[in-house]
Amino acid sequence: MSRRYDVAVIAGDGIGQEVVPAAITCLDVVAERHGYTVDWHAYPWGSTHFRQHGRMMPADGIDQLRSHRAIFLGAVGDPEIPDAETLWGLLIPIRRHFDQYVNLRPVRSLVSVPTRVVNAGDIDLVIVRENVEGEYSTVGGRIYPGDAREAAVQQTIFTRIGVERVARFAGELAARRRGLVTSATKSNGIIHTMPFWDEVVEQTLREVPGVRLDKELVDALAAKLVRDPASFDVIVASNLFGDILSDLAGAAAGSIGIAPSANLNPERAFPSMFEPVHGSAPDIAGQGVANPIGQIWAGALMLEHLGESAAAAELIAAFEACLAAGVRTRDLGGTADTREFTDAVVAHLRALPAPLIASA
Ligand code: NAI
Ligand code: MG
Repeated sequence: MSRRYDVAVIAGDGIGQEVVPAAITCLDVVAERHGYTVDWHAYPWGSTHFRQHGRMMPADGIDQLRSHRAIFLGAVGDPEIPDAETLWGLLIPIRRHFDQYVNLRPVRSLVSVPTRVVNAGDIDLVIVRENVEGEYSTVGGRIYPGDAREAAVQQTIFTRIGVERVARFAGELAARRRGLVTSATKSNGIIHTMPFWDEVVEQTLREVPGVRLDKELVDALAAKLVRDPASFDVIVASNLFGDILSDLAGAAAGSIGIAPSANLNPERAFPSMFEPVHGSAPDIAGQGVANPIGQIWAGALMLEHLGESAAAAELIAAFEACLAAGVRTRDLGGTADTREFTDAVVAHLRALPAPLIASA
């Protein structure tokens, strides 16, 4: 029986509406080559849904997504709607309900994409960001609004289980790579949660053979990401630190438009979600010029998760070949629009010889 994958698609807002169809076109071509089928189920959720119904997705949205093998997301965000609405109305509930506690963000210097940093060398690192707790917490509030005494409190929450499982994931990933985990900390200034993070990360990684742990203060780590990004292998970080470091690392490697991200539930009890790191880019939305690589690469991460590793590798090699041939979008200094770049990837894939073994 041929392999079929049932995938929920939320193109979302802004350039999500442009790069998601572009990526699906490429994903369908590799699927055909490798003998499996993706059944795409589109959900028209996001800011338009918010304008019409007062919410980013229906009340039973999570239940509708539950039965899918994976979720393929573009971006959400609209200049006229507060970001807290768009983020907490869709992305964060999905990450939390489906216990997608690992946010995986690979960063590599791509052929012929100029890096923005000196001594870039060959950047090949993965950021493992804790994705469901930490600084992004609902615990807190505001007192005396509008009053001179007004104050706000927001609590950071680290649980032993939460830190342990993300550290273990990072360690096991590093064991399959170059064996180095760098943990982002700030235990000199943040004296309760961060020493706890350090302690649990150290204890956990002691149990993962063949992996070295470096602990770095996040500010120094950020500087080193600019100065010497090639020296990193796997970086494990809390929700907030991981978010910031991955935008920095992505930009250092060339453009935010190329960076992919996977929100993983490693136990596979729930669907995982795959999206680019970038947002809805309202400044270029509707122009057809967005770089589709972040979305295509997110699709490749999804294929790896689904067990279609050969197809994933082929897809990544295809957009790299297009870059090497000089086809580039504007953010990378080229002139190609989204359509032209996508067509080039498709043409490259179609010109390849048939895979030796058409199965995963
Ligand atoms: P952004 O990533 O949307 O854009 C930042 C800059 O990078 C812009 O100049 C944009 O034109 C450029 N850029 C981004 N992706 C690109 C691509 N594929 N090709 C070419 N250029 C690209 O971040 P920004 O402007 O901070 O946020 C815009 C909206 O997106 C906000 O509402 C924000 O909340 C939302 N957002 C949503 C995310 C998500 O859905 N996961 C993640 C980040 C932001
Ligand atoms: Mg971000």
